[in-house]
Amino acid sequence: MVQDFQQNFVHNFGWRGFLLLFLFALLILKSISAQQPALNLLPIPANIQPGAGSLRIDSSFSAALTGYTEPRLERAAERFLQQLARQTALPIGRKAARLAQATLVIHTDHPSKEIQEVGEDESYVLEITGGGAKLAAPNPLGILHGLQTFLQLVDVSSDGLAAPAVMIQDKPRFPWRGLMIDSARHFIPLEVIRRNLDAMEAVKMNVFHWHLSDNQGFRIESKRLPKLHEMGSDGLFYTQEEIRDVIAYARDRGIRMVPEFDVPGHSTAWFVAHPELASGPGPYEIERRWGVFDPAMDPTKETTYKFLDEFIGEMAKLFPDEFFHVGGDEVNGKQWNANNQIQEFMRAHGLKNNQALQAYFNKRLQAIVGKHSKSMIGWDEIFDPSLPKDITIHSWRGQASLATAAKQGYRGLLSNGYYLDLGWPAARHYAVDPVSGDAANLSPEEKQRILGGESCMWAEYVNAENIDSRIWPRNAAIAERLWSPAEVRDPASMYARLDFISTRLELLGLTHRTHHGRMLHRIAGATATTEEFAALQTLTDQLEPVKDYTREQTAPAEPTSLTPMNRVVDAIPLESDAARRFSELVNRFIATSCLDGDAAELLRAQFTTWRDNDAKLQPLAQRSFLVREVAARSQDLSTLATIGLAALDAIAKHQPAPDSWKTRQLSALDKLKTQKAQLLLMPVPAVQKLVEAAAGGACFGAKP
Ligand code: ACM
Repeated sequence: MVQDFQQNFVHNFGWRGFLLLFLFALLILKSISAQQPALNLLPIPANIQPGAGSLRIDSSFSAALTGYTEPRLERAAERFLQQLARQTALPIGRKAARLAQATLVIHTDHPSKEIQEVGEDESYVLEITGGGAKLAAPNPLGILHGLQTFLQLVDVSSDGLAAPAVMIQDKPRFPWRGLMIDSARHFIPLEVIRRNLDAMEAVKMNVFHWHLSDNQGFRIESKRLPKLHEMGSDGLFYTQEEIRDVIAYARDRGIRMVPEFDVPGHSTAWFVAHPELASGPGPYEIERRWGVFDPAMDPTKETTYKFLDEFIGEMAKLFPDEFFHVGGDEVNGKQWNANNQIQEFMRAHGLKNNQALQAYFNKRLQAIVGKHSKSMIGWDEIFDPSLPKDITIHSWRGQASLATAAKQGYRGLLSNGYYLDLGWPAARHYAVDPVSGDAANLSPEEKQRILGGESCMWAEYVNAENIDSRIWPRNAAIAERLWSPAEVRDPASMYARLDFISTRLELLGLTHRTHHGRMLHRIAGATATTEEFAALQTLTDQLEPVKDYTREQTAPAEPTSLTPMNRVVDAIPLESDAARRFSELVNRFIATSCLDGDAAELLRAQFTTWRDNDAKLQPLAQRSFLVREVAARSQDLSTLATIGLAALDAIAKHQPAPDSWKTRQLSALDKLKTQKAQLLLMPVPAVQKLVEAAAGGACFGAKP
């Protein structure tokens, strides 16, 4: 057939014509494969080969383990079946499937390390055909990842639930793919921690870094030094038994747990019980405010190191991981400068400045951490070439410090660019690569020292209720950056799959989507009508909290750990999907020189809804002080819509709008860009593009 076609075609159009057609077909195929990954997988595996057909998934589904096995694998298979049942609503029970009959055969070669290590083999091979599926891995870590891949592949199809036939060979790009949660600034209950570990497993993250002490709280039980948690936590701390449970829970999911005890700064909560550790006189109270504070440990007293030895010795036994995070960030040095005895010590030891004093402290600390068989990791500030090479630099300040450390033989990981609390869109985190910028020019050997990265969830403005929504789904984009090949970087594809994974995470028990409705109902109050509540949703869908570190500067009163988190700014997601989609629609419309009639209609309908929304919401603003706070933003959305409609009217006339009109509109839009109630009106830049396009811009042939 193909040969016939070729011969006829060559006969009629010549070889050159055939070659052209062939190239054209290749081009189409290539553009299809580049545009849309056919599979809803996040992170995208290292190697995917699509097969023909699909594996039907029904209630007879079963799984069997072969090769090496252990209780962790049995529990993993059980959880897998439970999750498959939840996600498909099929009554899939735990059946003791015999190998020959199992739908999914899971083969493991050998055990992984008893205490999970950095750089262990996490690879797996998953083959799905119409007749069954095989998952194979050298050790249980790969199996855990492969089971998640399988779960992501199962979806509805035209004739039932199915997983597509496929051959996947997968392994991570980086060995360290972490999420840090700060339980010090706001205490995060254990069930929240556990469900975030479930979500980490779903996107193949493998390190949970737990920030357990800071100025605002000391969150772990110490049996040797119990006043630490008794006086430093307001009663909100994790017992050692609870910690052991969470460590086991994480290990079951292929996740290492690295504790952080931040010293010598960020340590006020220690001093409430032990003021003798501090460099200033005290007394100390648990800090309620946010920011960088003066209290710091006294690095010149032997008693400080004796205390740290006692404490670290206890914690080193509790936390099995090789790594022990000592913080080390943001010591402002004021207490050191003000303490004569410390100044005298510095002179006597030839320590020229506070950085040298901190390096002295870190050398002593490293010896203690090493004595308890741990490897020390800390934020950028611990980097000093006089420290031994076995410390690891955790960069919150950028690739430059990471590159400098790697060049000098230190291992490192990146968190700059992965701070979830800054409220960046997923695409911005996604574009950050640990081995880019200053790290791009490292030698292969130096690059090996960059272990990966960690997203950070600092907890000034999160609590048990909204933390899931501050982490997810954006964190999944970071998980993909750290797992998938570097070439996987198309934001459109990422967003499409993020949407999918986001709904799957809700099925795992995460609350990042559902919390929002609950919080908005509280804000609206019992008297809100259905129409008023819908108006509140229409408005808040287009808002995002202020970005970066502006939340504190724009607050109506100084925020503290006791400030209620009940406002719209606390409830809405940090990235608005609705606003992103609106902006994509405007871009699409402009790309057609504003000729796409369907897009114009959609825009007009959207603007009309927004224009009329304010009148529906204002009565509720009279009855709820939490809605009243956003009343001005509601008027702004209406104003924005009026400008958008005027732009569409101008475009419909097929005549560029006059410059004077454009100037007036742009100046009105500028006023809408500033924050109000700590909220940004997200569609403003898209409407600005539309105004520019209408006034002789992209609608009239100019390049957008
Ligand atoms: C940090 O953000 N101070 C580590």
